[in-house]
Amino acid sequence: MNVQTAKIQEGLYYLGANDRDTELFENMWPLPEGVSYNSYLIKGEKNVLLDTIRTNKADAFINGLRELLDGEDLDYLVIHHMEPDHSGAISQVLDYYPEVEIVGNQRTKSMLADYYELSPEKFIEVKTGDTIDFGSRKLTFVQTPMVHWPESMVSYDAENKVLFSQDIFGGFGTVDGGIFDDEVDYERRREEYRRYYTNIVGKYSMMAEKALKEVGELEIDIICPVHGYVWRKNPERIIEDYVTWATKEVQEGVVIAYASMYGNTENMADTLARFLAEEGVQNIEVWDVSKTHASYILSNLWEKKALVLGSCTYNNSAFPNMNALVHILEMQRLENQVYGVFGSFGWSGGAVEFLQEFGECTKMDTIETVANAKGTMKDEDVEDLRQMAKELAEKIKG
Ligand code: FEO
Repeated sequence: MNVQTAKIQEGLYYLGANDRDTELFENMWPLPEGVSYNSYLIKGEKNVLLDTIRTNKADAFINGLRELLDGEDLDYLVIHHMEPDHSGAISQVLDYYPEVEIVGNQRTKSMLADYYELSPEKFIEVKTGDTIDFGSRKLTFVQTPMVHWPESMVSYDAENKVLFSQDIFGGFGTVDGGIFDDEVDYERRREEYRRYYTNIVGKYSMMAEKALKEVGELEIDIICPVHGYVWRKNPERIIEDYVTWATKEVQEGVVIAYASMYGNTENMADTLARFLAEEGVQNIEVWDVSKTHASYILSNLWEKKALVLGSCTYNNSAFPNMNALVHILEMQRLENQVYGVFGSFGWSGGAVEFLQEFGECTKMDTIETVANAKGTMKDEDVEDLRQMAKELAEKIKG
């Protein structure tokens, strides 16, 4: 049983669990460092549970909740977000506390029916700006549609300056003993936070930016997200990172992602990387799409100024793993990167053309030169790569 509890303030508790069993978040994104599911309990005149947990941790969660309540009843359950990593234990909560009143918005109500066939009689519908007085604390609700789902919302306890932010300000990685930001080294986990943001929320960055602006107007001492650390010492640190990611701020650097069966395209990737370094470009990363999951490539790309994709030809198109990466990149609406393409083919082409078409469908700034080798890289291909490096460097530095 790995549910953890911690006192945050008088009458406010953390109740969460680490998930080290699940290999893939949403059955898609690798979790080498696990993930935590956090919920919170307000104990006072009224007892209020804020979100639940994924089903695989539901039994431990209910036990932890009952221990925290110590024989008292649960009066309210606030649902900030209906994705099953947080709503998975709602049915069990209702089994133990059938009188509980559920707080959510209009969409929450329909999703309760859609996902759990629940139509609770005691349902308080809220919208942005509504405040509920729970006795010991008042919560004001702000809807944050598409960050991460349409029904997502946050709540704010103005008197104690606490923000319950659901997925926003969360990240991958378990909370290993250290639950609060002052008990851990966030910088060590930053990449897992960015990978979470870019892959889970990145597509909705415009909405995330809007939500962050609204949140930015609040005075915040403590942030309680549903994944990762509770921020009580330096909430500005995670706000700063989220603003950087939501606004798609980029810095000098290049991600070269390649697909190669027999090393010819890989050779082109390394050659281009060297030429870029000779042009004085810093922060060059080369990734093999057959070895590295797309979520890492996207995350590393998010803060860099340039993306170069290279692929061998496979059935008149790009290599399947490159196809998969491109599909993920397409969803993320990249716009602030400079983009370049290279590839190789044996008899008929296809890979380079596919990668070019992808570039045309984005707002990225595509460079002119393309290197496309027949078989192994020849002198003219080397020259094309050298020219690509120059054009990329000019745009990156410019
Ligand atoms: Fe952590 Fe969108 O659920």
